[in-house]
Amino acid sequence: MGKFQTVGEYRKDKDRDELRLKFKLEYPEYYDFMDSFQRKYYNKDKTKFTMGADYGFYYGLIGNILEKRPKHIVEYGPGFTTVLLHRIAQDLDYELKVTSYEDVPMWFDILNEMECNPFGTMKLVELKVESETEDIYYCCYDHPILDHKDVDFVLIDGPGDVIINKINKRNINTNLHNFEVAFDRNINHNIDGRHETQKFYETDYKNRTLPQ
Ligand SMILES: C[S@@+](CC[C@H](N)C(=O)[O-])C[C@H]1O[C@@H](n2cnc3c(N)ncnc32)[C@H](O)[C@@H]1O
Repeated sequence: MGKFQTVGEYRKDKDRDELRLKFKLEYPEYYDFMDSFQRKYYNKDKTKFTMGADYGFYYGLIGNILEKRPKHIVEYGPGFTTVLLHRIAQDLDYELKVTSYEDVPMWFDILNEMECNPFGTMKLVELKVESETEDIYYCCYDHPILDHKDVDFVLIDGPGDVIINKINKRNINTNLHNFEVAFDRNINHNIDGRHETQKFYETDYKNRTLPQ
């Protein structure tokens, strides 16, 4: 049994500008692609485009994919990232499958209108709260885990606000944990922001051992 290690990139905010520049220099075609895609929505209702991750996140995400060459990415919290994932997939010399999960019907419709679901691989599912503390909901997108035995990369950028019976608490996405426990292996991942979720996985990895 090896040590269960964090393999995702946990970006610090102070690195943002530097990472944005690196993104532009190292992957100019993806930088221009994301820049022109996002610009299409800059003048629209703000509620419709605030989902974009920052460019430092895109940079780390692209590097991780190109280096580790995953075969199946499962994304929680789709949006511009979904467009980028499919764009990268088109350029690879192997087949990369992308599955994205959204939990809010309104955002699902908006994302479809915004062409963020170019190949129809985004699915709308319920969000399930598995447990809670005074200030945190532990929740997962409710889909059969065994549908994705081949998952080798998880991108966490969702859910958004979780409000149950009018009570809004911070949330931790447990889907990655559930995959890792079910399949008894590490899964490469990136988490955008979401400090509670990052902390949860850092602690989770320290406390468990799974085969490398
Ligand atoms: C941060 S967004 C996902 C962003 C996406 N990964 C990207 O980089 O474009 C996470 C979730 O919040 C919800 N959401 C999307 N846009 C939102 C907005 N403008 N305000 C509040 N919630 C939003 C959706 O349910 C979405 O799945």
